[in-house]
Amino acid sequence: MTSPFILINFKTYREGTGHSADRIARAAQAVMEDTGVEIGIAPSFTELRRMAKHYTIPVFAQHIDGVDAGAHTGRIPAYMLTMAGASGTLINHSERRLTLAEIEAGLAAAESAKLQTVICTNNIRATAGAAALGPSYVAIEPPELIGSGISVATADPGIIEGSVRAAEEKNPSVKVLAGAGIHSGKCVRIALDLGCTGVLLASGVVKADDPEAVLRDLVSRC
Ligand code: G3P
Repeated sequence: MTSPFILINFKTYREGTGHSADRIARAAQAVMEDTGVEIGIAPSFTELRRMAKHYTIPVFAQHIDGVDAGAHTGRIPAYMLTMAGASGTLINHSERRLTLAEIEAGLAAAESAKLQTVICTNNIRATAGAAALGPSYVAIEPPELIGSGISVATADPGIIEGSVRAAEEKNPSVKVLAGAGIHSGKCVRIALDLGCTGVLLASGVVKADDPEAVLRDLVSRC
């Protein structure tokens, strides 16, 4: 059985920037070392190199562009992510939507740089399409629940179940993460019981007064 994976997206929250980013990364590393549950972080581009240098946890980018080195102002090619120490990347987050061609190009670039890939999706059909592309993970996140504090695990378990089934049908090697409003060990347990490998979350940890306490609760029922 694959070990559970918890991925924390820092987005552009102030609470995920500067010293506060270190506070979360330090907590994630401590909890991962104590429990063996894999915990990754997806900080902003400006924090990525520093996070990858100082912590041993997996560090993901929040986005990748399917372009090479060259004249691409404002883009982020795969080689820059690997040089900065990233081990993976989100692709097509709800807050950074891409066209199908851009998703495919970003995925191909990430794969050729040996980066882990998480394609985010907003519904079961999108999960099926994303899984057919063969990323490492698909993360199902209903947009209306993102940042709401209402967990997809309790509010819409059907979308998780349907996504797990769709991914399994399209490509059984693709693992599924559930995201949106995830905040407790109970949410994680439900996602795992529905067939997910783990969760993708942000505000529940990043905006918490005590991120380490939330992380310990998140892994408590893995
Ligand atoms: O990438 C994670 C995300 O979009 C979910 O956000 O704040 O609902 O955990 P949140």
